[in-house]
This record gives sequence, structure tokens and C-alpha cells, in this order.
Amino acid sequence: MKDINYQSVLDEIIHELAEFEDKGEVASYIPELAKVSPEKFGVYITGVEGQECYTGDYQERFSIQSISKVFALALAFKNMGESLWSRVGVEPSGDPFNSLVQLEHEKGIPRNPLINAGALVVCDVLISIFKNPKDELSAFVENLMGGPVNFNLKVFLSEKKHAYVNAALINLMKAFGNIKNDVEEVLDFYFYQCSMEMSCQELSKAFLLFANKGKIPLTNEQMIKEINSRRINAIMQTCGFYDEAGEFAYKVGLPGKSGVGGGIIAVNPGIYSVAVWSPKLNANGNSAKGMKFLEMLSAKTGSSIF
Ligand code: DON
Repeated sequence: MKDINYQSVLDEIIHELAEFEDKGEVASYIPELAKVSPEKFGVYITGVEGQECYTGDYQERFSIQSISKVFALALAFKNMGESLWSRVGVEPSGDPFNSLVQLEHEKGIPRNPLINAGALVVCDVLISIFKNPKDELSAFVENLMGGPVNFNLKVFLSEKKHAYVNAALINLMKAFGNIKNDVEEVLDFYFYQCSMEMSCQELSKAFLLFANKGKIPLTNEQMIKEINSRRINAIMQTCGFYDEAGEFAYKVGLPGKSGVGGGIIAVNPGIYSVAVWSPKLNANGNSAKGMKFLEMLSAKTGSSIF
């Protein structure tokens, strides 16, 4: 990050984004999420050498939703190693995040761990490994972000009450034998992880290990193996944005992950991690302004890994 003044790049982008016509809509299929103010906008960039720059609502916590799938994946992969891939694939799906269609003819093995079906399998794996998977996942995340993570009970209950599609996904996989635990228990754990709340500042810090070969820069703790960090980045790059993953690779060129709370995290290996939050989503369920912001950041700083 040394040669570029990221704070002035940020200021320049904010100025230019004033012209951006945001046609997105706040997620409403989880009713509690629809209550968030649509105009919120925050950014936080953390460099692997400790540099920081930020703007807007970067300290406000929001529902991280599908971004949590990466934490759960990292924890499962750390404990299971390559055997994890007998339960879930590493191929992009090209379908929406909650799609059912591939599961039937692919015998209940989800394409990847970042679509809902794959994340549910990862939750099932963690339940089989740990006595208290919620505590283990929270502790893992808290270690990465260096502080306590918030859990939003209202969002959790709201999603649980409207869980029709996730219930369909998990029951189909259970019928194929790819869910080992009770479906209600797995759904409960999945909604728990999706209801975690973090700010852009916290998210950016928590993802820094993926920019730093699996190590937390501040403490030098090797949280996951370097090879696992590399592989998770590859999965984020190819699958992190569902049926828009190609477009994100094309326009931004960084591994990343979105959530329907409007957050996006992206990682520039060896250099920085950036979190952006803007609640209005495009048709693919990804933050519309967040995507535009990252496209501009990548272009102005030459950040694409390609
Ligand atoms: O399961 C769901 O539908 C939500 N808890 C998470 C979906 C999500 O964040 C998709 N990402 N953009």
C-alpha cells in the first residue's frame, strides 16, 4: 500500500459515487433486514502492515449474513482438511445463492461452500466436530477481529420464521444422506452464523488473514495453513458472488464475499482487505453500490490480481 495514498483515492471515489444511481433494493425476504436504513454507506481498508483508511458508517455494525460462510468454511477446513470436499464441491454454481436446481441431479452434493446448500453442509460438519459449534465459531471469529462479535436475535428469529427455501435445501440433502445431524439443529446453527453483526472495520480486520497467508498480522498467529488461505481465496474468487462471480472477477479482480445485509469483503493478497457496506442489493443479491465502489477502488489502485 506504500506507493498509493489510499485515503485520497477513497475520497475521490466517494465524490464520484455521488453520481451513482443506485437502483438496488434492501433485502426483504428476511423482514428484519428490510428495517435497515437504505442509505447507509461505510468502507474500511486494512493493510497487512497495519495501514488503515476509512469513510462513512464504517463503525456501525450490520448483519454479515453470507459473509459468515467464509468463517465457517475456514474453521471446517482447518479441522477436516481435504476430506471436506467429499461432502461439498469447489465449483462455481452459476445459479442464485439459494437455488435448488443442481442439488437434485448432483445427488445432494452442493457445488461449493458459499452457496446456501454448501454452507448448510459446512454447518452440519461443524456440528459433528464440536460439542458447542456456536461457541467455537464465535471464538474463531472473535480471535480474528480482536473483540466480541454481536449476535442479533431479531434477525435470527426473523430468518427462522421465513426459512422456506433453506428448509427445502436441507431436507433435500438429508434425503440424499449428505446431512448427518438433525435438520432443525443445522438450520438453527446456520441462522446463528448469518445473524452475526460486524462493522466494516471489524470485518476488514477479521479477513486480513486471507491477505496474509493465513496469519493474523498483529499477533503473528497462524490461524489456518497458508495453503488453506490460498484455497479459500480461490473459492471466494470463483464462488463468492454466486451467479455474478464472473462479473466480480472481471470488474474487480479480487477474491471476495457478499451478504444480503449489504456487506462485501474483498481481499488483495499480500496487500490489504477491504469491507464495504451499502444495504441496497442488485438482482443477484449483492450490494449494488458496494460492487461499484470496489470496481472503482480496484481500477484506481491497480488492485486486480489478474
Ligand atoms: O440463507 C439466507 O438466505 C441468508 N441468511 C444469507 C444469504 C446471503 O447473504 C446471500 N448473499 N448475498
